[in-house]
Amino acid sequence: MAYNLLKGKRGIIFGALDEKSMAWKVAERAHEEGATFTLTNTALALRMGVINQLGEKCNAQIIPADVTVVEEVENVFSQSMEMLGGKIDFVMHSVGMSPNVRKKRDYTDLDYGFYAKTIDISAMSLHKVLQSAYKLDALNECASVLTLSYIAGQRVFPDYSDMAEAKAMLESIVRSFGYHYGTKKKVRVNSISQSPTKTTAGSGVGGFDAFFNYAEKMSPLGNASADECADFCIALFSDLTKKVTMQNLYHDGGFSNMGVSAGVMGSFME
Ligand SMILES: NC(=O)c1ccc[n+]([C@@H]2O[C@H](COP(=O)([O-])OP(=O)(O)OC[C@H]3O[C@@H](n4cnc5c(N)ncnc54)[C@H](O)[C@@H]3O)[C@@H](O)[C@H]2O)c1
Repeated sequence: MAYNLLKGKRGIIFGALDEKSMAWKVAERAHEEGATFTLTNTALALRMGVINQLGEKCNAQIIPADVTVVEEVENVFSQSMEMLGGKIDFVMHSVGMSPNVRKKRDYTDLDYGFYAKTIDISAMSLHKVLQSAYKLDALNECASVLTLSYIAGQRVFPDYSDMAEAKAMLESIVRSFGYHYGTKKKVRVNSISQSPTKTTAGSGVGGFDAFFNYAEKMSPLGNASADECADFCIALFSDLTKKVTMQNLYHDGGFSNMGVSAGVMGSFME
């Protein structure tokens, strides 16, 4: 159902890789809600070609950029303002990658070059996005910037490895930049801490299926899907949430406040 919640708003969406991506679903919903926006991902992701289908469907132009390279991020903002005809009202940062996870390095045997890359891509890149926007004065008053986090930023999930530190840092950048951008231009900065979701990044984490099923059994409302995550993002981009900022908002069916559920207990009954 569409409510025209983003009518007249201009946005930038980082991180749509394929139709399973959270950012892909956000783009589809933002389009339904009347927004115009650009899409951006790495040149490598663009070469896979599927993002063109999303661009056509949403009438969105695609700009290649590596989020770790400041000049490329700045270019995304300058080009987007030109293409869309004005300053930006919402930014979706839906980016994450750990070479240590990808190469199945154990947490007690991390490669520190990879570790730095994890932090750069998955956390520092949000600072690069925000600082580029700030310096170029690319955002409108009350614009909304969102990123996606995971509860491993606060609690231990062994296979999440160095992504746990990346998420903890990401959530800290949300608070710190949220202060600066809030006082300067009433810009909102928030993270959504999402349930395990079957995407390329999600499924790359060791033992993902067990993880997913455990969270499903533990959460009173069950796991939140990528489509439901997109709905929440739209609400946070809309004018209905203008005073929500500097928050890490759990979108996890209640998982984060659980100790144990009857469903999980059932698996241990003798
Ligand atoms: N899937 C889950 O279970 C889950 C749960 C909570 C949070 N998240 C977070 O959601 C976000 C989106 O992930 P997803 O699950 O939709 O998976 P995804 O694999 O579809 O998206 C990750 C995106 O990051 C992009 N990316 C990687 N390196 C990049 C770089 N250097 N520059 C620009 N883009 C780069 C990839 O191309 C891809 O589009 C990530 O931050 C992830 O950690 C995922």
